[in-house]
Amino acid sequence: MANQEVHIVKPVYVWEVPVRIFHWINALALVALAATGYLIGNPPALLTNLEAYDGYWFGTVRFIHFGSAYLFLFNWVYRVYWAFVGNQYARWNTFLPVTKAQWQEVGQVLVIDLFMAKQGEIKSVGHNALASMIYLVLFGASIFSILTGFALYAPMSSSLIPGFFAWFGGFFESEMTLRYWHHVAMWFYALFVIVHVYLVAYHDYVEARGVLSSMVGGWKFIFQKKG
Ligand code: HEM
Ligand code: HEM
Repeated sequence: MANQEVHIVKPVYVWEVPVRIFHWINALALVALAATGYLIGNPPALLTNLEAYDGYWFGTVRFIHFGSAYLFLFNWVYRVYWAFVGNQYARWNTFLPVTKAQWQEVGQVLVIDLFMAKQGEIKSVGHNALASMIYLVLFGASIFSILTGFALYAPMSSSLIPGFFAWFGGFFESEMTLRYWHHVAMWFYALFVIVHVYLVAYHDYVEARGVLSSMVGGWKFIFQKKG
């Protein structure tokens, strides 16, 4: 966007309250799940002079993992519902790259992101086509973590919800393999978060449309040439 030209800036209300609430609950739950999951997979041998029955830190770590797991599950259910009733930027079809224009935008954004090259204005006002595709992959990964996580949880819980997922464990050779793949998925989120936060900040700069703050206030800004 050339600074010298005169533009009219038009605010567009892009992210409704439910999308923003989903976003931040999802971010919080994911960080809690990854941190506690990492500790469950690599428990440090802590030495303490407490009586054994007074030290319950690992139980607390697991409690946070399982509590966040329910939050993560219901938050996704809520987002899927919103994909059918929310505004055009939150709709399910924005996440499916099916049109030629979407694929062209995927190429355009890849060039901007990988080569830091100027490629003209990005047409999408909501998620750009590449971002949408990545969020779809994140959704798939989240379903995978929910299925493997609750399948791991089922034998140690008498609650109703984990029981619904017990069948998924049957696809794995042993509980160890199930646990292994549940663990592997965590590294995908670590990669996603680093790239996502960087790209949101980078697009805030290249687009100059208020991307970074849009997930807080809901607004983005589009430029229209004057006259
Ligand atoms: C664990 C950390 C995070 C996760 C898992 C995450 C995940 C997501 C997801 C799933 C979306 C799509 C939202 C939807 O359509 O419902 C999204 C969009 C977005 N996120 Fe995050 N996010 C994280 C952290 C952050 C942070 C720290 C920021 C900084 C402000 C941020 C800013 C945004 C913005 C601005 C968008 C919309 C960007 C676009 O138009 O594509 N996110 N994020
Ligand atoms: C989506 C994000 C999630 C991440 C990043 C994550 C990560 C992890 C990791 C790394 C482990 C350790 C695996 C190992 O032993 O090496 C673990 C264990 C486990 N996770 Fe998750 N998890 C997630 C979601 C869930 C969900 C939704 C559930 C559902 C209840 C769940 C239930 C479990 C259970 C039952 C264990 C084994 C705990 C134990 O034996 O003490 N996780 N998780």
